[in-house]
Amino acid sequence: MDRIFLSPPDVGPLDRELLLDAFDSNWIAPVGPYLERFEADAARATNVRAAAALSSGTAALHLALLLVGVQPGDDVIVPTLTFVATANVAPYLGARPVFVDSSVDTWTIDPDLLEEELEARVQHSESLPAAVIAVDLYGQCADYDRLTATCDRFGVPLIEDAAEALGSTYRDRHAGELGVLAALSFNGNKLITTSGGGMLVSNDVDVIQQARFLATQARDPAPHYGHSEIGYNYRLSNLLAAIGCAQLADLDRKVLRRRAIKRRYREAFADLDAVGFMPDAAYGQPNNWLTVITLDPSATESSPTDLREHLERLDIEARPGWKPMHLQPAYKDAPSRGGRVAEQVFNSSLCLPSGSAMSDSDQDRVIEAVRARLSALAL
Ligand SMILES: Cc1ncc(COP(=O)(O)O)c(C=O)c1O
Repeated sequence: MDRIFLSPPDVGPLDRELLLDAFDSNWIAPVGPYLERFEADAARATNVRAAAALSSGTAALHLALLLVGVQPGDDVIVPTLTFVATANVAPYLGARPVFVDSSVDTWTIDPDLLEEELEARVQHSESLPAAVIAVDLYGQCADYDRLTATCDRFGVPLIEDAAEALGSTYRDRHAGELGVLAALSFNGNKLITTSGGGMLVSNDVDVIQQARFLATQARDPAPHYGHSEIGYNYRLSNLLAAIGCAQLADLDRKVLRRRAIKRRYREAFADLDAVGFMPDAAYGQPNNWLTVITLDPSATESSPTDLREHLERLDIEARPGWKPMHLQPAYKDAPSRGGRVAEQVFNSSLCLPSGSAMSDSDQDRVIEAVRARLSALAL
């Protein structure tokens, strides 16, 4: 039996065709027609006016902070429950991440705690953060109406880390159009992949143009190599953009498939008291990038670690939930407002195989393996 991976790339004949077309056209690097097309397609998919294709989602977040003016010594608010890249881009600019806990009912950044943090700073005459990054966790959008109202009231720019959320919605809006700038990721385990890549998207066309400039070494518009600013080498290649175009054309099917996979897990575990699921917020439709289950210690002797190891013995890849940033040694000195909710999620959660190319019979293997372990260790 083959190994079942957590979220492997889902590629088809169109990916191959467009990649070879880009290759044969000799638009190998650095830019080319597929890059422009990928940007236009991604802007359309997220309902924004402009997009800059970059080498990673991390690069997109880094440029987002730079473009909203984050400076050395500034604070940047980041949810503690996220992948480390969201936090890392603050120190890239000499800024400090300040962590905020999740809300119990969405697992995304708690809007009440964000408000509390900003109000406390005003009350104590402390400086406001230079930016807030909200994360659409496992494809579930944060509560942007609340977050935007708070950020607008205090004049702090809100950036959307939509790395995991392409294809998700918040009310009638798309992930990617919910902050002043948003970052997408196309790394190997995301809904769509370019093997590695990312995108910065926004309704501000000028800011996106500036992002392209910074991402290509900030080269002045002059025939000599003139540089008035310090730039980066962050542009996506035309070859990878060709794969991105094919991947994006298939986005709707991939989202529907991930949602169907989560639904099937829900049905399969409905009778198990020990199993819960990441809560679905009432305000939107997640893309269900990963199905995340929780285990109730009062109903099973198993644990996320035990279950993961059991699945591993059966050649099934499952992963712990993100370890909160305030528990990471790299961030032991960073302040955190709350953190208990994120700790509880981390201690109880496990991400199950969720790839859009996973067959029903492979999912049956996962379901049977989970059920077998939990019935053996039921309390
Ligand atoms: C929430 C979040 N932010 C940022 C990133 C970084 O994206 P990339 O791997 O493309 O740099 C990822 C994924 O890797 C992510 O899950």
